[in-house]
Amino acid sequence: MSKITGLRCTSCKRVYSPDSGLFTCPVCGPYKGTLEVLYDYDAIGKKFNRKNWIVPELPGHYRYIKLLPFEDTKLIPPLWVGYTPLIKSEFFEKKYHIKGLYLKDDTREPTLSYKDRASSIAAIKAKEANANGIIVASTGNAASSMAGFGASIGMPVYVLAPRSIPEGKLLQLLLFNAKVILIDGNYDTSFDLSLKVAEKTGLYLRSTAVNPYLSEGKKTAAFEIAEQLEYNIPSYVFVPVGDGCIIESVYKGFKELKELGFIEKIPHMVGVQGEKSAPLLRAYENNTDEIEFIENPETVADSINVGVPRDGVKALKSVKESNGFFIGVSDEEILEAISELAKYTGIFTEPAAGAAFAGFKKAIKENRIPHDATCVILLTGNGLKDPRAIKRIAKKDVPIVAKDDLDSIVDLIRF
Ligand SMILES: Cc1ncc(COP(=O)(O)O)c(C=O)c1O
Ligand SMILES: [Zn+2]
Repeated sequence: MSKITGLRCTSCKRVYSPDSGLFTCPVCGPYKGTLEVLYDYDAIGKKFNRKNWIVPELPGHYRYIKLLPFEDTKLIPPLWVGYTPLIKSEFFEKKYHIKGLYLKDDTREPTLSYKDRASSIAAIKAKEANANGIIVASTGNAASSMAGFGASIGMPVYVLAPRSIPEGKLLQLLLFNAKVILIDGNYDTSFDLSLKVAEKTGLYLRSTAVNPYLSEGKKTAAFEIAEQLEYNIPSYVFVPVGDGCIIESVYKGFKELKELGFIEKIPHMVGVQGEKSAPLLRAYENNTDEIEFIENPETVADSINVGVPRDGVKALKSVKESNGFFIGVSDEEILEAISELAKYTGIFTEPAAGAAFAGFKKAIKENRIPHDATCVILLTGNGLKDPRAIKRIAKKDVPIVAKDDLDSIVDLIRF
């Protein structure tokens, strides 16, 4: 018997069989009808405890295989993914007068973004389905990640991405040998096309939210945070939000641990959006579940430049149920946060990840976080992915050019 007991619709709560092959609820449609993968939590909770539910012999995040949607460990791709460091920053704890501040460093995933967590599972599911190839719409990271995993298992990956895709992400795609189609439109256009292409071609669909198994990969940071903090669950987790899939998945991970009886409380989930690409922040502030889309979203953080959040329903629910909040940040705040992280921690982030830290800084400034709280910030992507954005802040730090002369160089060195 499959360990998945059902696929539940986010909106109408109908439960479908995992053998149905459905990715979304046919009654509620692909937007409201995203599905949630369910397991037999009662049985798992009775059989295992906080320690022995983990299989440490398996690499990376596969150590949580009891709550992952596959059985055959031979399908695990060779790239290491997940089980990334959780770094305590005493410097920021002091600077922001906060009891605990931890940085979850997913800038060092195999293709340098959090998306690897989802792509690893997509690679497994595509193999299970004997797919001929994978199709993905992406702002850049989901695609470059899927392309890397496709390369690692020898499966073709087809990409639909906006023409404005950052250089680092495009170079990765080309080097990983993906078939790249740049669309004369934004991410939202690419996404709609990917659904139609999957239907016409039978390619395995790895576009976010409409494939329920992707959340299963993205939830594993919650398990890692719990394990790394010895189940002392943090008060807040800050997540950069575009489609909303990462935040809802991390929330699901914590919810599952609670369901198993391994933790008692769930952190408040804080969603950080670019202030001009913030449909979920708007819905949250207007206290409505009706998400109004934004036609031309704008933010320096391309990964969260999303006007139609595909996992919006679940994301909004996660924030509300966990008594968290959404917060918006400007381009200047994002760039400043990247610079501060780099300077004081040695972690080099892309703008979306910088946005999460910018959201934390703003929340502290607005007194929305008590000083005895413990916060975790998800650093979801690497700075080398988007040199164009980073150049905007690096301008003022131009290197000094000197003659090949020891004395003049020593002269330039000041303590
Ligand atoms: C680096 C990075 N951070 C955050 C996000 C936002 O994730 P989501 O679209 O699931 O909200 C993405 C998505 O592309 C990303 O690549
Ligand atoms: Zn439904």
